[in-house]
Amino acid sequence: MKQTNVKPADGKLGIMIVGNGAVATTFMTGVFMTRRGLAKPIGSMTQYDKIRVGRGADKQYLHYSDIVPLAKLDDIVFGTWDVYPQNAYQAAMYAEVLKEKDINPVKDELEKVVPMKAAFDRNYAKRLDGDNVKDCKTRWDMVEQIRQDIRDFKQNNGCSRIVVIWAASTEIYVPVDETLHGTLAALEAAMKADDREHIAPSMCYAYAALTEGAPFIMGAPNTTVDIPAMWELAEKTKMPIAGKDFKTGQTLVKSGFAPIIGTRCLGLSGWFSTNILGNRDGLVLDEPANFHTKEVSKLSTLETILKPEVQPDLYTDYYHKVRINYYPPRNDNKEGWDNIDIFGWMGYPMQIKINFLCRDSILAAPLLLDLTLLSDLAARAGRYGIQRFLSFFLKSPMHDYTKGEEAVNNLYQQYTMLKNAIREMGGYEADEEID
Ligand SMILES: NC(=O)c1ccc[n+]([C@@H]2O[C@H](COP(=O)([O-])OP(=O)(O)OC[C@H]3O[C@@H](n4cnc5c(N)ncnc54)[C@H](O)[C@@H]3O)[C@@H](O)[C@H]2O)c1
Repeated sequence: MKQTNVKPADGKLGIMIVGNGAVATTFMTGVFMTRRGLAKPIGSMTQYDKIRVGRGADKQYLHYSDIVPLAKLDDIVFGTWDVYPQNAYQAAMYAEVLKEKDINPVKDELEKVVPMKAAFDRNYAKRLDGDNVKDCKTRWDMVEQIRQDIRDFKQNNGCSRIVVIWAASTEIYVPVDETLHGTLAALEAAMKADDREHIAPSMCYAYAALTEGAPFIMGAPNTTVDIPAMWELAEKTKMPIAGKDFKTGQTLVKSGFAPIIGTRCLGLSGWFSTNILGNRDGLVLDEPANFHTKEVSKLSTLETILKPEVQPDLYTDYYHKVRINYYPPRNDNKEGWDNIDIFGWMGYPMQIKINFLCRDSILAAPLLLDLTLLSDLAARAGRYGIQRFLSFFLKSPMHDYTKGEEAVNNLYQQYTMLKNAIREMGGYEADEEID
């Protein structure tokens, strides 16, 4: 590894997960099983991917950890918050994502992960009714209590660094309100004034994490860190932020498939995406206000890849629809259908059908590993604010919309951004163009 300014990954890394549900427990179980040599962390870029550094005769293909100092799986300690009090073993069994034979060997470690009381407001997720919830006088008090949790966790577990990641339920849609979310001062005033309508619990977790010197990652489509006030806080505390919404199944396919249509200059007249899903995430998303948050996130993907203003003959007025239907029998095994209506030479229509029988949490778990390890790396490399290089892992990548920036959704451009950032942090030249 080259000598760089990136601080080494010494000591323990505390990964504190908001939500102890299907995704979080599948992630933790996989890390514990991998550490014991009983499973492989398949799908994780930080554990498997190799990228080229150097050129010509000097070129080498290296794992990320041979280019930059990454935390090791053995150095991870997990913490969590949830509105239900069950420990991670009980929650993993309840989620039924993994078979008992893949959970039981690490039962002892999972049982030790007991959720702290959640910073929760039922108005943000009506379908949840757990009682492991903090008693908060105001939103500011909520922040203070979460900050105390982070400090206690760090000290009790001897961690040198903390990363906080949201893998809790999708909250109802909170539209950005410039007067409250536009500046840090306004956000803090709204928290102190206990403005429960505009300050979601997730914003309190993010505020607390950044203030305690921990990067924050938003894995659901919630507005949370996607507001100028949080960017200001991230600048002030010099902490990385990333979001929104883990890019797992259908949107991963979409962001990889749309470039085929775009690069081949085929036309698009419609793209209909529908899903059936039966886990608790599906239950929460069955509530229209919660689904709307997801819908906004999922719809944004195509607009930045197939642009009518660039190719009016090909992409004007295509019809894009996304549906999620709660269907309990399938539990975590989501089935997604995409019907894509395209047109070719002289406008002749064709259809493409994609049927993805995926496992939601199996696809999400490696993203949590990559996002937490890479955010921790970014913090040690002195990178702060929005981490655009992590767009690869996210459905609705953060970008500074106040400066007219656009999200990069094209999977291959995102991959180039990721590789270039790793190269740069490793002291190599960023040598691929993103467009
Ligand atoms: N699995 C995927 O493919 C995928 C992809 C993108 C995003 N996500 C998002 O990840 C999140 C987790 O998904 P899941 O399948 O694990 O859901 P889940 O319902 O199994 O787990 C979420 C947990 O969060 C808890 N929770 C809700 N609000 C909380 C709060 N304020 N504080 C602490 N805990 C809280 C719930 O009690 C629940 O146990 C969801 O928001 C989902 O939309 C998942």
